[in-house]
Amino acid sequence: MKKLIFAFTMLLLPALAQAAGGNVHLDKITTDFNNKESLQRGMATYVNNCLGCHSMKYQRYLKTAEDIGVPPEMMKDYLIFSDQKVGALITNNMPKVDAEGWFGTAPPDLTLETKLKGSDWVYTYLRSFYQDESRPWGVNNAVFKDVGMPNVLGYLQGTQLNHCSADELANNETQIDPLTGVEIGGCYSLVDGTGEQTAEEFDRTIYDLVNFMSYVGAPHTMDSQSMGIKVLIFLFIFFFIAYALKKEYWRDIH
Ligand code: HEC
Repeated sequence: MKKLIFAFTMLLLPALAQAAGGNVHLDKITTDFNNKESLQRGMATYVNNCLGCHSMKYQRYLKTAEDIGVPPEMMKDYLIFSDQKVGALITNNMPKVDAEGWFGTAPPDLTLETKLKGSDWVYTYLRSFYQDESRPWGVNNAVFKDVGMPNVLGYLQGTQLNHCSADELANNETQIDPLTGVEIGGCYSLVDGTGEQTAEEFDRTIYDLVNFMSYVGAPHTMDSQSMGIKVLIFLFIFFFIAYALKKEYWRDIH
């Protein structure tokens, strides 16, 4: 019995760890891989703004084209900017050593980023750059303190400032990131009219981008969903066959 109680306590541990991680304020999103337009817009944003620095070297253009509903020729014409073939992996030509010199850290490959940090984290991160003249690129990030990445989507979002009123500050305490132990969060406000998009449009752009990145992090989700439906249909039909067979076998006995 003691052993059983111990085993159950151990089972509960991961849940407790999750509860502890709940401190960080992250904006939540619900990904939807059936929304092909969203995935297509997300990929366009990615190849235009991110691929120059961040490869997705475990994913192929062709598989992506099939999954997000883009004909391979269109993928080649509109979404592959290098001379890469449509069957190639999504890579770039950034030399790692140079990149370390430019940014302090080489931009990591992002194929599995949403698996590593979670879609909510990436969604919040991309919307949390704020002005900070003390940093090399003039920006800092509310969920990734002293980040080495420039605010590449600043032209869409506009400038965010992190000075708030005393009241706002009181209600918007910084928190500790359970992964790194550094202070994150705090409050920041958008300067209107400095970006090409409104706040809602920008949230939508980042939603599509993170939806796409989440699909790339779990490219077989679509396959397993369609397989799951087929299996259920098969089981449903097979139930009647099995039932008829059972009746046939038991007829002589009853
Ligand atoms: C000019 C190069 C550059 C571009 C363009 C760029 N990034 Fe980055 N990014 C970096 C660098 C450098 C880092 C590493 C920052 C660090 O560790 O301090 C980084 C870090 C990140 C991280 C955090 C990785 C981690 O887990 O440590 C994410 C997520 C990310 N970038 C997403 C994006 C997305 C999405 C885009 C396109 C909208 C983009 N980046 C465009 C240079 C870039």
